[in-house]
Amino acid sequence: MKTRITELFGIQHPIIQGGMHYVGFAEMAAAVSNAGGLGIITGLTQRTPEGLAAEIARCRTMTDKPFGVNLTFLPAVTPPDYPGFVKSIIDGGIKIVETAGNNPQKYLPALKEAGVKVIHKCTAVRHALKAESIGCDAVSVDGFECGGHPGEDDVPNMILLPRAGETLKIPFVASGGMADGRSLVAALAMGADGMNMGTRFIATVEAPVHPHVKQAIVDATELDTRLIMRPLRNTERVLNNAAVEKLLATEKELGPKLTFADIAEEVAGVYPRIMKDGEMDAGGWSCGMVAGLIHDIPTVKALIDRIIAEAESLIRQRLEGMLAA
Ligand SMILES: Cc1cc2nc3c(=O)[nH]c(=O)nc-3n(C[C@H](O)[C@H](O)[C@H](O)COP(=O)(O)O)c2cc1C
Repeated sequence: MKTRITELFGIQHPIIQGGMHYVGFAEMAAAVSNAGGLGIITGLTQRTPEGLAAEIARCRTMTDKPFGVNLTFLPAVTPPDYPGFVKSIIDGGIKIVETAGNNPQKYLPALKEAGVKVIHKCTAVRHALKAESIGCDAVSVDGFECGGHPGEDDVPNMILLPRAGETLKIPFVASGGMADGRSLVAALAMGADGMNMGTRFIATVEAPVHPHVKQAIVDATELDTRLIMRPLRNTERVLNNAAVEKLLATEKELGPKLTFADIAEEVAGVYPRIMKDGEMDAGGWSCGMVAGLIHDIPTVKALIDRIIAEAESLIRQRLEGMLAA
């Protein structure tokens, strides 16, 4: 399948693995890139620019295919050394960066000068247009159903993607709720040039997370995610668990008086405990509604091959068949 996204990034299949905190290590990115998609290392999971440089080098020993780095600009307790991370990306020869959160404008000149292609992840058409206007090469359009931060507009992909399609000139990928060949064909039909997946890639053999995390995704249904931190305008879609229930009770009790400190215990620094140690009730961790469509733990290659085969058969048999009838 050839699309503007496969052409832009020099990849075989129009499938991207979005940056994921404490999941996007070299093992994850290399597995996706080796299977013909675009794997992405999560920059900030490496605590320092030196750590990121080492992770990029480690990934190079695992794949000779293109892979990218995610740089997330979100409210943080201690702001990360972004210029240092950008330097590690450029010095490490990375040619694709996925930015997310705030506007990446400040770092675009340095990235562009180094020949880096930037795909900005956004949750609203107005943000996608802004990304286009400041020179981003592509955008990833994240609908309300996505795992992680869906923004505050709550527009699902059935509306958001066609709106992006009728508005943008640069290519975009559909993100949020994508799991299989059906997702890919639907995304293409709505104007996207590919798709980005988060949650689906965690439930794979190669995802470098505790088996409890993979099993939790397989066990979850589409009804099992919750939105947290909405009163702080930093909404995150997470899998429900005991800590999330406690957090939501605190949000309800404090109402508009809520501050980050009131819920820090359930969100700050919990990722290593969940992803590495498998302590599933340690706190809130991002997970999409798409968990309801995830029923197995295949290898990344088996997953991507299956998606492409299913997409092909949907187009050639189901859709063409309807026209021929
Ligand atoms: C566990 C987890 C951690 C994530 N961490 C980040 C992150 O650090 N930065 C980022 O830009 N997106 C992050 N995301 C969002 C994904 O890159 C992607 O946009 C999202 O998962 C797409 O929705 P889906 O889960 O329905 O596929 C995370 C998602 C998950 C599931």
